[in-house]
Amino acid sequence: MIAILLMGGKGERFGNDIPKQFSLLMGQPLYTYALDIFLSVNLFDKILLVIPTEYKDTIDIKNSRVQCITGGKTRQESVYNALQASPTNTDFVVIHDIARPFVSKKIILDNIEAVQQHAAVDTCYPATDTIVQSLDEKFIHSVLIRNEMYLGQTPQSFSYSLLLKAHQKAQKEGILNATDDCQLVQRLDFPIFMVLGSKDNFKITEHKDLDYAQFLLEKNIHGTAK
Ligand code: CTP
Ligand code: MG
Repeated sequence: MIAILLMGGKGERFGNDIPKQFSLLMGQPLYTYALDIFLSVNLFDKILLVIPTEYKDTIDIKNSRVQCITGGKTRQESVYNALQASPTNTDFVVIHDIARPFVSKKIILDNIEAVQQHAAVDTCYPATDTIVQSLDEKFIHSVLIRNEMYLGQTPQSFSYSLLLKAHQKAQKEGILNATDDCQLVQRLDFPIFMVLGSKDNFKITEHKDLDYAQFLLEKNIHGTAK
């Protein structure tokens, strides 16, 4: 079982010169939060840390379980690079966006348990807003039934061979910029089991998200602390 921690992005919506995962949160780089939680789960043979090429030399982690690899131009390519770099005997992979600092140990353990039974797992949280779809960014084209809607978070966990097959199929069909891995596995018509995420397992996307993360840490009411 390996973990793939994705930090290969540029953080364009965040808008700083330095990618958001290097921003300081209570004086500590954002990426260290999820990394520390994954390190505290002693069930991973390896943790692959996927880093943007230009920042590879800035990270120096002295832990033999952590291996740094180079990210790709898209999230999908970063995951594929990690699959290529995985040890040959890898059975399962647990993939997490490092931009979600407050993933809990429970969510990770629930993923590990579920993936061994179901081979494909998403971490989901019920939507509280009604989700609407627009195809032209101007008008609403459908209003989805709220109690059937969830927010897809990470970790997402898969059998290694299933995920590799999903990525290879997507590449062949010209799907190159998927925002998560479940949508690629779905294209194989493979059922994906849900484990419950949490509201605190949000993704830092904009500056306001970092301010909110800081607030939760100051109050010690973030998901990891519970
Ligand atoms: N990611 C990655 N490689 C990429 C793009 C994204 O490893 N080429 C990672 C990000 O570092 C992040 C996670 O995937 O931890 C989720 O992506 P997102 O929140 O979209 O981050 P960015 O792509 O960095 O942000 P933006 O889309 O605003 O540029
Ligand atoms: Mg992105």
